Amino acid sequence: MEPIIAGNWKMNMGPGESRELVIKLLQLVSDVQNREIIVIPPFTSLPGVAEVLCNTKIKLGAQNMHWERGGAYTGEISGLFLKSLGCEYVIIGHSERRHIMLEPDEWLNRKLKTALDIGLISIFCVGETAQEREQGMTQQVIERQLNQGLRGIENEVHKMIIAYEPVWAIGSGKTATPKSAAEVHKFIRSKLKKPVTILYGGSVKPENVDALMQEEEIDGVLVGGASLKPESFARIIKFESKR
Ligand code: 13P
Repeated sequence: MEPIIAGNWKMNMGPGESRELVIKLLQLVSDVQNREIIVIPPFTSLPGVAEVLCNTKIKLGAQNMHWERGGAYTGEISGLFLKSLGCEYVIIGHSERRHIMLEPDEWLNRKLKTALDIGLISIFCVGETAQEREQGMTQQVIERQLNQGLRGIENEVHKMIIAYEPVWAIGSGKTATPKSAAEVHKFIRSKLKKPVTILYGGSVKPENVDALMQEEEIDGVLVGGASLKPESFARIIKFESKR
């Protein structure tokens, strides 16, 4: 399987900036092979980015969706709309949505089920906070997130991607060491019924991606801040690995 390098732009990059970013990125990665590249812009940038990416090797994802296909849900976005724009992926349960928007596991479970039904590939995020890690609860927290998020769809987990993003590593400049990330990936794999792709996320940068991607347990990376600059994201995409 090709390593997956996904860039989550979060609430950055308006429509114009987004188009410029992908135009530059396409130039920088024109020679890249054997990598699955995904960009995940804000909703309002999706149409413009989709137009630029049409018939290119870079895939498109969205940062969130509602579990209903449509209806009276002011301010929400249906997965069907995302699909019609050309999105193949959708992030579900990013820690910023779990912790800032207070999305409970039960909502994430509904969203994952809908994404499966309509044929979007979920990038389902799990990860512990600093406090949970200090209290030795990392495995317990992740197990809960997996059990509750995947309830009823345990046998379909191979149709999704899991992203391990320790909350303390997101936007903090602190990265999990490759060994400790690999350990958690191994734990996640041991809890799932099917083989699954697992990405690491949390302060991934050009300086640390090579070491992370050396670990067999790490199938790719989910990048935030460093995906906003075409040069740094391209360097991450072109990671060097002796694997
Ligand atoms: P940073 O790479 O900015 O730490 O963000 C990681 C992340 O949350 C990706 O989804």
